[in-house]
Amino acid sequence: MRLDSPQINIMTRACMKASRSLIRDFGELENLQVSTKGPGDFVTSADKRTEKILIEELQKAHPDYGIITEESGQINKTNVKNRWIIDPIDGTMNFLNGIPQFAISIGYEEDNEIKCGVIFNPIMNEMFIAEKGNGAYLNNSRIRVSNKKKIDDAIIVTGGPKKASKIKDKIFSEYIDVSKHVSNVRKFGSAALDMAYVACGRFDGYWQRELNYWDIAAGIIILKEAGGFVDFFEMSNDVPLKRNVLASNSNIHNELSKLIVKKNIE
Ligand code: IPD
Ligand code: CA
Ligand code: CA
Repeated sequence: MRLDSPQINIMTRACMKASRSLIRDFGELENLQVSTKGPGDFVTSADKRTEKILIEELQKAHPDYGIITEESGQINKTNVKNRWIIDPIDGTMNFLNGIPQFAISIGYEEDNEIKCGVIFNPIMNEMFIAEKGNGAYLNNSRIRVSNKKKIDDAIIVTGGPKKASKIKDKIFSEYIDVSKHVSNVRKFGSAALDMAYVACGRFDGYWQRELNYWDIAAGIIILKEAGGFVDFFEMSNDVPLKRNVLASNSNIHNELSKLIVKKNIE
């Protein structure tokens, strides 16, 4: 039986509503790929359209809640007790190229702690949900992180660096280090789905630098409720919404941490 608290219901309803227009937009892309203008502007408006629907739906239920979003910034900034954290399309580059690996991601935070999360891939019709203390689910089935015990057998997912990153060399050298010690490293292009896939055991671990809070807010609670470990490393107070994240099943967590952040885990 899946959890269905009022908060989760509000989030899933918003996701389902926004996904209808997102699926339509994804279908339109095929035509736009071949137009001379290209799909760039269209994708930006798909992002904004999706976000607008999500905000409207969430605000219908709680007009006073704070909201942190990728496209519109912060709404009701003074309410830091109850906040929605929204990424309308996580995996924009995939979306833009007609690759169905993208998701709507919504986290709900109370007193600075993520309490619920929903990550929805509308093309695969996969909804990952979790609420603190009530487990994590993929559609109607309870999910758990993998049970893999040895780091050499692990499949690890990562992402980045972004084109503008100033630490590309560091990120590539980390990639090489990790690759040498695990079975395989993958890059799928959606941080939210990367976290969700660790939560349901498709991958054994995930790490990435230079993320934004909205990329992973929902993933944090989904992973924890699926029995996974999540750490943030080398955080800076100057950029409070930036995150370097490391997540995995509990068996390989220490070894993966040693490979990536050595002794820098907070
Ligand atoms: C991006 C995706 C990608 C990650 C980038 C994010 P966006 O989010 O999560 O996997 O590598 O760092 O910015 O731009 O598609 O919402
Ligand atoms: Ca996005
Ligand atoms: Ca994102």
